[in-house]
Amino acid sequence: MVALLELFAAKTGAAMWRLKRQVFGVIFIAVALCLFYFQFVADGTISTVREPSSLRRDLNNLGHPDSHDDLQKKHLDSTLHDRVKFVANNKDELEQQQKMLHNRNEQEKTQMEDDVNDRTQNRGVISGYGSLHNAELQSAGQRQEDIQKAMDEMSDNMRPPMPQAAIQQFSSQPDVVMMHMDESFGIPRLGNYKYNPYGEPVYGKTDRPNYIPKQRVVHFDLKGAPPLMGILQTIIPWLATHGATAIILEYEDTFPFHGSLAQIATLNHYTPTQIQELLQLCEKHKIEVIPLVQTLGHLEFTLKLQKFSHLREVPDLPQALCPSRNESLIFIYELIDQVMRLHPNSRYVHIGCDEVFHMGECELCRQQARENLFLQHVATIAKYVRAKYGSIVLIWDDMLRHISDAAMTDYHLGELVEPMVWVYAEDIYRFVQPSMWTKYSQVFSHIWAASAFKGAFGEQLTVPNVRRHLDNHMNWLDVMSTESSKFSGGFRGLVLTGWQRYDHFAVLCELFPAALPSLAVNLISVTRGFFNSTLQTEIYDALGCAQASKYQSWINLDADPFLWDKFTWCMFPGKQAFTLMSRLDSTRRDVDSYVERVTRSRAWITDYNRRHNFSSPMRVVEDLEELPDRIHAVTSLIKSAREALIDWFDEWTIGEWIEQQIWPMLSTLETLRKESESMKRVKYWPVRPLPLLPQLAKYGISEPTSNGNTINSNNIGKSRSRSVIPT
Ligand SMILES: *[C@@H]1O[C@H](CO)[C@@H](O)[C@H](O)[C@H]1NC(C)=O
Ligand SMILES: *[C@@H]1O[C@H](CO)[C@@H](O)[C@H](O)[C@H]1NC(C)=O
Ligand SMILES: *[C@@H]1O[C@H](CO)[C@@H](O)[C@H](O)[C@H]1NC(C)=O
Repeated sequence: MVALLELFAAKTGAAMWRLKRQVFGVIFIAVALCLFYFQFVADGTISTVREPSSLRRDLNNLGHPDSHDDLQKKHLDSTLHDRVKFVANNKDELEQQQKMLHNRNEQEKTQMEDDVNDRTQNRGVISGYGSLHNAELQSAGQRQEDIQKAMDEMSDNMRPPMPQAAIQQFSSQPDVVMMHMDESFGIPRLGNYKYNPYGEPVYGKTDRPNYIPKQRVVHFDLKGAPPLMGILQTIIPWLATHGATAIILEYEDTFPFHGSLAQIATLNHYTPTQIQELLQLCEKHKIEVIPLVQTLGHLEFTLKLQKFSHLREVPDLPQALCPSRNESLIFIYELIDQVMRLHPNSRYVHIGCDEVFHMGECELCRQQARENLFLQHVATIAKYVRAKYGSIVLIWDDMLRHISDAAMTDYHLGELVEPMVWVYAEDIYRFVQPSMWTKYSQVFSHIWAASAFKGAFGEQLTVPNVRRHLDNHMNWLDVMSTESSKFSGGFRGLVLTGWQRYDHFAVLCELFPAALPSLAVNLISVTRGFFNSTLQTEIYDALGCAQASKYQSWINLDADPFLWDKFTWCMFPGKQAFTLMSRLDSTRRDVDSYVERVTRSRAWITDYNRRHNFSSPMRVVEDLEELPDRIHAVTSLIKSAREALIDWFDEWTIGEWIEQQIWPMLSTLETLRKESESMKRVKYWPVRPLPLLPQLAKYGISEPTSNGNTINSNNIGKSRSRSVIPT
């Protein structure tokens, strides 16, 4: 019976796997939603309970390529009051979410049962397959009930303190939940909150005027993968037409550094002439250019080199500069001077200063408080830039979130820099609360905000989830309109960041062309101060969509969060790259499910079979039947990728991206093919047992000696001579 079941399970492995994914998908979505509300609702109270580490990790991801744990925790503690109010206001919304979730679970369950029945009848193995699936359904159902129970408990206890049991239940599962949230396909919207901490409705509210940021700045993260100048000449006018007023150029290693800094520049850096042309183009289109030079943290691109390694704060870690050395300052001044020579008239200069993970660790720095080290360094650099170039100096705000207004005032930070407050998650107030805005307003007259249109929800994504990025932008408009009056000069503007790597060492995340629909939707929405179907013509025109019937209806971000359905038929620059990502996605699913099926569900070309060159030729042939199609799909994807990206990037970048995203599939398939073909050539097979894996010996699993053993040693000898285990 067991054998029969297994046989059948193997045959239908792929289908089952898919079903399992469905079941667990639903559960994960449910648990994720619960977890979110728990965190959100119970922010103030939960601080006494261990905060799930992976949740923090996930929140960090949402916030920015990495951010600060204790920072968040501190802020969470400080807003219990606001949260209680939020919960009271949000009761209906929570209940509605819960109902919706329940319905969805029911629907999925029915659909699955139908599916199982269908297969069971068609295949005629009612008992085996059916009972397997019933067990699976039962355990899924059980988990569903658990979640439901917790949800009920939650709605009964809408006000703090939260039931400890419930908190613990969810604290014990976050790893699973978060892993699946990271997949980001079909993921729940975390940011669909309707009230801000003041109890006012947000997003789509009609009782307050729409907020339009004065400056709409698009961030170009150029790190080690500079877009071609040719395409920038198309993109700059496009940005200007659709509402951008400025760009930030984060060159990192793509700047033509020279002299003592020559080693820093990547081989495919821009030339000074190209930069001058770009600046002229921007000027022509009234786009202001803001150069960004990192000056404390995120100096990996310089400190990774042996030449500058002695300036590291921590000898083995290339992230942060030691600010206490005179030579460090000389080095930073040189970086700034070289960049400013090509940006002589910049009104603003961004000096970075985010995510300084290592501070106050070296011998010199340990003598000072970390806070003072940071403030002193920022003040020194800002004074230098202001005196020499007369520019307004901008910094990322995250390091200031810990620091008191009194300390900032001591260093006259308000007169030296303007902070750029970045939050890329949907819920801005979760990271920067009203009290934080009040604090900043005690020190600074002007303030900036930074959202993200790509590069914030997963280090290896290929296309941004526009649903989530739009929530981030719309919520920023609400926050800006709410907090603006605290500052005498208000908000200068909103920066739409578009991260290309999470740091210098990271592989590429979403490429610029694949993110153009996201940029169009977000830029146009913040330029108009709202998002609804009134923007239909403008957005469709911006993306070159035809007058077809498909473009008479408005986009549905809940059903089509990547906008693949809507914009695949439009003609914007980058469209090829955008649709390529959809093909990549389906090809990857297909290849993964094939490999999973033949190597992990079925039993003839598994790792074990291939390692021992031991399989049934007929089965091997069966399992290889679909392989050539898959290899073909992947190789043709490589060709299409090159074509789609050739106007945007040089071969270095195209090659890197293909190696990162497509090559692993081909490599897996080719290995499978080669080793399986090899198994097919075997004509005679050894008797069992096959030799044990030598690597298992260190765990005490080795071949019994022939003495005192019932196994015929001759057979073992024979098997060894024919079946060789590569070590
Ligand atoms: C940096 O230079 C100043 C003035 O030249 C000097 O007084 C100081 O000792 C130097 N500091 C270090 C750490 O070398
Ligand atoms: C979209 O929002 C704007 C601003 O709130 C409003 O004036 C307009 O009527 C809305 N359009 C639709 C179709 O709801
Ligand atoms: C498997 O057997 C084939 C046919 O005898 C042989 O060519 C191949 O090298 C073997 N591979 C391994 C890994 O032993």
